[in-house]
Amino acid sequence: MNGGPTGPRPCPRARRIVLTGFMGAGKSTVGRILAARLGWRFYDSDHLVAAGLGITVAEIFERHGEARFRELEAAAIMEALTRDRIVLALGGGAIETPSVREQIFAVDNGTLTVFLSAPLPELLLRCHHGEQAAPVRPLLTAAEPPEERLKRRLPHYQCAHLIVDTSGIPATTVVEQLLAAL
Ligand code: S3P
Repeated sequence: MNGGPTGPRPCPRARRIVLTGFMGAGKSTVGRILAARLGWRFYDSDHLVAAGLGITVAEIFERHGEARFRELEAAAIMEALTRDRIVLALGGGAIETPSVREQIFAVDNGTLTVFLSAPLPELLLRCHHGEQAAPVRPLLTAAEPPEERLKRRLPHYQCAHLIVDTSGIPATTVVEQLLAAL
């Protein structure tokens, strides 16, 4: 919702901030700025997985399939969450992996989870912007419509400690709202 973050549960004292939300939510952009403002390190689960194999996320999907990508993604997230003073941007589908949900929503483990939300048309517009040269999100062209994918994920995203509506809001403003809420 506009006007600031809201959330269903009280925030734990955060040693880590995990950003979740659908593709195009701005997790990496917001995460990078937020980490810089906090003086924390920034990690992006897509980059961790891709760096581990030395190929792109799109290539991992193509060569190894989504199931293998999800395993690598969950392992990279578990490893990142062993660190303190980090901001971690999750790939949009990581929330569908039960072990990831258990880890990021565990009570009092020092991890604050933030859902960056926006209406689907805006998310898709943001995804397609700048991706003309090289598509980097294989699932945007998959058989399952994004509406279905989002519908399935939404109840999980909404378990986040904080929910920020990023619709029409620049990343820097989202960061200010988050900092004010922390
Ligand atoms: C995915 C989102 C992507 C990436 C992969 C799958 C998804 O990350 O992990 O293409 O399932 O929604 P972003 O959310 O950073 O685009």
